[in-house]
Amino acid sequence: MQTLQTTSLKIIDNQLWILDQQALPQQKNWLSAGSTDALVSHIHALRVRGAPLIGLSASLLLALQAEQGMSRADLQDSLLTLRAARPTAVNLMNNLDRMQEALAAEDYVTALVREALRLVDEDRQLCDNIAQAGTPLITAGSRILTHCNTGGLATAGVGTALGVITRGWQQGKVAHVWVGETRPLLQGGRLTAWELSESGIPCQLITDSMAAALMADGQVDAIWVGADRIAANGDVANKIGTYSLAVLARYHGIPFYVAAPHTTLDRHCPSGKDIPIEQRAAAEVTGVAGSFGAVQWAPENIRVHNPAFDVTPAALISGWVLDTGLITPEQVAEGIFRPQTA
Ligand code: MRU
Repeated sequence: MQTLQTTSLKIIDNQLWILDQQALPQQKNWLSAGSTDALVSHIHALRVRGAPLIGLSASLLLALQAEQGMSRADLQDSLLTLRAARPTAVNLMNNLDRMQEALAAEDYVTALVREALRLVDEDRQLCDNIAQAGTPLITAGSRILTHCNTGGLATAGVGTALGVITRGWQQGKVAHVWVGETRPLLQGGRLTAWELSESGIPCQLITDSMAAALMADGQVDAIWVGADRIAANGDVANKIGTYSLAVLARYHGIPFYVAAPHTTLDRHCPSGKDIPIEQRAAAEVTGVAGSFGAVQWAPENIRVHNPAFDVTPAALISGWVLDTGLITPEQVAEGIFRPQTA
């Protein structure tokens, strides 16, 4: 396959490499993702993360496996294993549906390679389109709060919510970005803070528990977040902590926008209640382990509740900014996200 490089994926000499997002920002390690098991393990450990990027990495691996001579039956097994690697993010399933169609082609090797590369190219374009649709919503001098990481690290392009913020800053409209650290795995503190700093965008890191006071103090003009799945009624699953920001935004009269590509939309999922939410290991809450070492602060056998995502009801969302443009609450109420009938 041709050489390819995004912020956090690359293909060199027909091998897939991923930038280890658990080690960032202290270390910039590229890890091989040469087998189904290796990639699934990277996805579980959030070394590969972000809904769009997970779908792209799985599609590229399948294409490479096909080129390396894996049989159609083994490719099918690999596809099903990868599909189950992360239950909440629907981009993975949507991308693999397209790879499944390619696998049915007579010349499935060519079809899989073509489809995987197309998905990467499309994702880049989707990010650009989201940014174009979102920046008109940013008012001059905005101080924007964001959550988790939705930038170039999580996509093949400029990102989703962070892409809008970045382009808004390039247009001189964003004065400041508040970065929520995003407990428990700190994607905001480690990744978004790093991406914004690399781009020279003025930002300040806060713990998640500081958001309410900041809003009460009149220091937040808008909130922009990404999504792992958008249900047919407009409910949005995203990184845990998103829902509390939406509730706070409503109380303080602050607009709350969700930015995502159409590959995050699940028309067959009626509402947020139907979105599977991944429960993760207790150790993520009782301590940390990373490039900075291991620290345990909670009692050894304390029981832990650790859902990786929460659901923000559509009623709290000011607008859904997709690659196709801004979708308003009125359009969502009229059923724009419901299954389309021919
Ligand atoms: O668990 P993560 O770090 O993959 O969670 C990521 C998010 O919640 C993002 O907002 C979402 O996947 C969109 S990334 C463009």
